[in-house]
Amino acid sequence: MTLRVGVVGGGQLARMMIAPAVELGIELRVLAEQPGMAASLAATAVGDYRDAETVLAFARDVDVVTFDHEHVPQPVLHALEEAGVAVRPGADALRFAQDKLLMRARLEELGMPQPDWAAVADATELQDFLDAHGGRAVVKTPRGGYDGKGVRVVSAATEADDWFTVLAEDARGGALLVEELVEFTRELAQQVARRPSGDMRSYPVVETVQREGVCAEVIAPAPHAAERLADVARGIGEAIAEGLGVTGMLAVELFETSDERVLVNELAMRPHNSGHWSQDGAVTGQFEQHLRAVLDLPLGDTTPREAWSVMVNILGGPVAGGLSDRFAAAMAEHPAAKIHTYGKDPRPGRKVGHVTVAGDELDETAYEARAAAVHFDD
Ligand SMILES: Nc1ncnc2c1ncn2[C@@H]1O[C@H](COP(=O)(O)OP(=O)(O)O)[C@@H](O)[C@H]1O
Ligand SMILES: [Mg+2]
Repeated sequence: MTLRVGVVGGGQLARMMIAPAVELGIELRVLAEQPGMAASLAATAVGDYRDAETVLAFARDVDVVTFDHEHVPQPVLHALEEAGVAVRPGADALRFAQDKLLMRARLEELGMPQPDWAAVADATELQDFLDAHGGRAVVKTPRGGYDGKGVRVVSAATEADDWFTVLAEDARGGALLVEELVEFTRELAQQVARRPSGDMRSYPVVETVQREGVCAEVIAPAPHAAERLADVARGIGEAIAEGLGVTGMLAVELFETSDERVLVNELAMRPHNSGHWSQDGAVTGQFEQHLRAVLDLPLGDTTPREAWSVMVNILGGPVAGGLSDRFAAAMAEHPAAKIHTYGKDPRPGRKVGHVTVAGDELDETAYEARAAAVHFDD
């Protein structure tokens, strides 16, 4: 009997589950927001993921429901669970990836290292936090942010006035998250796959480079990661996966500080940009691993195939001419590069694809990946 996985959301993460699903003979069904999205190849339904009826109807014909993004509202998730649908990750875990204030409070309970933070309901409270933290801090909207949207470095409380105005108009009320501005030496990410049965497999900790809040590049494993650092990152990832009861892939974004501390930035409970390297660079890629985990199948080996993998995002992408000219040039000059494009329309700063190169020498591998990706710049 064929196993059937339903994915809510039609973006590139759902798209990249298609290839391993085909290989394994798993039937992948996607509920896309609109026609023509990145995962339209597997879209069996188009509809609003905020509507319980729509999602329930979609879930009727699958063995398990999982996600391309974290935005499915809690009442919809509860409706699915009450109808007996296997939802992975479940509503109780997912809320900590949906709301950064809930996440901070829960991580504190779990004793995880994190930046100083507070929930601030108005400009006066924000000013108090600024005064106590050297006059600068990072303000975040707790919900709905991605790729740096909803993250702002401020040095005066008035710089968040527009967000406080939106809060005041929201019937649910609430607060903004404010965090100390971490002087990190670099950003890392730890990925863990966890089955409903509790089994876990961790990937090696990776280094991520964000430009203007958007992931630009990932190096796997993180260079100069002493065994202690790798152990600390893995320990944090596994403690969170277990503590929050995550099923499927978990990504923990981390800051490394100059005094060798590792602090949790945020969580994603789905395949993540920091793990794209594993498609081509690890024995089991994160998209296959996510399918295995949500189906409660034995997890695959996470060992890297080569000493180094470097993943470079294609942001924006070609505007003039089509992709085919770019493909021809990139492929001719970089035959070892694995090129992925998502079938999305180019827009400045938008993630439209990525390139991964794996090799035994870091400088050369990084050079190849960057040089291949440059062909797709506009
Ligand atoms: N407390 C902080 N101190 C310093 N930089 C931060 C802090 N929080 C976030 N950043 C920077 O902003 C980026 C985006 O923030 P993040 O909370 O991960 O938002 P998003 O949900 O958009 O990914 C981070 O990758 C990091 O570069
Ligand atoms: Mg982030």
